[in-house]
Amino acid sequence: MAAEIIYGSELAQEIRSELKSEVETLNGQGIHPKLSVIIIGDDPASKSYVRGKQKASNKIGMDADLWEYDSTITETELLNKIEELNNEKSVHGILVQLPLPEHIEDQKVIEAISPEKDVDGFHPISIGKMMTNQETFLPCTPHGIIVMMERAGIELEGKHAVILGRSNLVGKPVGQLLLNKNATVTYCHSKTEDAQNITKQADILIVAIGKPSVISAEDIKSGAVVIDVGVNRVDGKLTGDVDFESVKEKASYLTPVPKGVGPMTITMLLHNTIEAAKRIHQ
Ligand code: GUN
Repeated sequence: MAAEIIYGSELAQEIRSELKSEVETLNGQGIHPKLSVIIIGDDPASKSYVRGKQKASNKIGMDADLWEYDSTITETELLNKIEELNNEKSVHGILVQLPLPEHIEDQKVIEAISPEKDVDGFHPISIGKMMTNQETFLPCTPHGIIVMMERAGIELEGKHAVILGRSNLVGKPVGQLLLNKNATVTYCHSKTEDAQNITKQADILIVAIGKPSVISAEDIKSGAVVIDVGVNRVDGKLTGDVDFESVKEKASYLTPVPKGVGPMTITMLLHNTIEAAKRIHQ
């Protein structure tokens, strides 16, 4: 059986057109959702990501300003800028692109962003609320993965979800969101013994470790749902963590790279920024 391929790119367009209508409605009420993005240094990948975020915002009629700083900026200067944006009424969402230069402590910066404007969902208050299943800003990639599966009609409740990778950005939170949806969750990581034995038991396998083609057909159960969160460059070409060609013959659903999870991440950021604007004006 060949897997149904879930194109996040198509779903993202669908959701973004819904969000565009929502922005128009808000504009009619005098509310203009606005995102502020801070980027430090000149890493080409990070620059391309933030331009993508700005472009996507503008495309749905939402403002997004970009604050670009040289990597010589001090931690204090950055924290002051965040404080200024926290106090700026016209700004609803603040995102500081990670990673940051070594002399700046990521966690300090994340915690400086007001939880009301934490559209990345990285602040400990947002994480705590997610853990206790309260309404909050959910981290964009994990949230995008859940929305993709739900919109594809995939049942999550009672299913065995295996997460390969335990990063703070993706692995850990996506496991928590699946638990909130009543899935049974197992985490595998670099120290896991006999990971293949575990991945083969997964009804839903989320692969987020950043190594090309680590999962192939022999690592999965027949009919499994496989979500590939990997973004790797091999010979200049973008590839995921899953060997697409072999897995697509055995899985029931599979996400491609590119055009899979990636476009959903930005879409959930737009969603969070609109939510932030709505909450501030409530
Ligand atoms: N770097 C890579 N992904 C992300 C993300 O989702 N948010 C932020 N702020 N930085 C990132």
